[in-house]
Amino acid sequence: MTQQIIDQAKAVMRKNDHGTYTVPTHGLYPFQWNWDSALSALGFAHFDEARAWTEIETLFAHQWDDGMVPHIIFHKHDDGYFPGPEVWGTGREVPTSGITQPPVAGFAVRRIFDRARDKELAAAKARTLLPLIHAWHQWFFSNRDPKGTGLVAIIHPWESGRDNSVDWDTAFERVPTDGVQPFTRRDTSHANPAHRPTDEQYKRYIWLVEKFRSLGWDNSKLHDASPFQIVDPGFNAILIRSCSDLAVLAETLGETEIAAQSQAMADKAIEAIETLWSDARGQYLCFDRSVGALVDSPSIGGILAAFAPIPKARAKAVSDRIEVLAASCNFLVPSHDPTAPEFDALRYWRGPIWLIVNYMIADGLECAGQTAMADRINRDCLRLIELGGFAEYYGPINAEPCGGDAFTWTAAMVIEILNTHEIAA
Ligand code: GLC
Repeated sequence: MTQQIIDQAKAVMRKNDHGTYTVPTHGLYPFQWNWDSALSALGFAHFDEARAWTEIETLFAHQWDDGMVPHIIFHKHDDGYFPGPEVWGTGREVPTSGITQPPVAGFAVRRIFDRARDKELAAAKARTLLPLIHAWHQWFFSNRDPKGTGLVAIIHPWESGRDNSVDWDTAFERVPTDGVQPFTRRDTSHANPAHRPTDEQYKRYIWLVEKFRSLGWDNSKLHDASPFQIVDPGFNAILIRSCSDLAVLAETLGETEIAAQSQAMADKAIEAIETLWSDARGQYLCFDRSVGALVDSPSIGGILAAFAPIPKARAKAVSDRIEVLAASCNFLVPSHDPTAPEFDALRYWRGPIWLIVNYMIADGLECAGQTAMADRINRDCLRLIELGGFAEYYGPINAEPCGGDAFTWTAAMVIEILNTHEIAA
């Protein structure tokens, strides 16, 4: 059974493989996405290590001169996606978007390196990637934390990877829609419109893109110019984890300066993330930097914080919080609290379960000794696959498979979980 699932997952990954990069799924997402690639490499590493390294190398081949790694790389022309290269207008030879995505590559590279069977290849690849990933981390702290708080802000919801989370609703009201060029969405012809972000949200997404384009994608200006500046605990946790993992990797490779700088960034951020803790909610919350207040929205962003090496007592509290969520759904972990009025079981990031997020939460909890909850989350991942196949995401009440199917990172997570955990599928 287990082998059968692994074989099916490999077939999904192969189907979406374009040789040097994978697409998340054909149709809906026909290009390379940043955190999709880093997480998918973990799956490849179990059956084709060289291919895993190539996935990450391709991503970093499109890093900007300032250090940013873009969220989409438009390797080949495809009409089926909006907004395409002409809307972003970033002027790159191989077009890319102009914003970034959760920096999970540092974590992925360390993990692939640590487990590598081909040690020589791993050392060579990790050595080349190390300064590139470090430059990206430094880019974050200089461009997205201009006041040196220790935490970085996202300036577009798409950067978070949780596109239409409830977390952004109030701040998003401040993003205007006037003057946006007329456009036709393409996502709603590939997936159920009732499960996708609304048209109103889409206008605001595009307003921000047009605003940043008008500033020539100059990252030294974008943060302060954006009416949307959110400090997301999940996003910051991913950055913290990648910085601390990169510190360990750099030390192993004898790159002591990168090691020290990475650890210093992680330490400062771990201290700062405490300011996002809410006793009332029993979890971390987003902080709206434009108005200087926490966002009282019980989403998975504040649970994903457990991916970072937060204090053990906090990891225990996050685990307790998931236990509370479990009382109102049949599968873990919903992207929004099912008892909250905004919860929407099938609409993208407003309720459904995403396996990649589950994986990161479980990994963080496991590192902090919360193994029972970690196992439970991993088990639910496999239950969802059995019931719904390799979907983009799943309903937390009835396990409906939603969004695109034959999804690369979902398949990669299954390969990763089954190869590293003793869980009956
Ligand atoms: C959606 C998701 C984002 C992901 C992308 C490709 O935009 O919200 O997290 O990277 O699809 O799978």
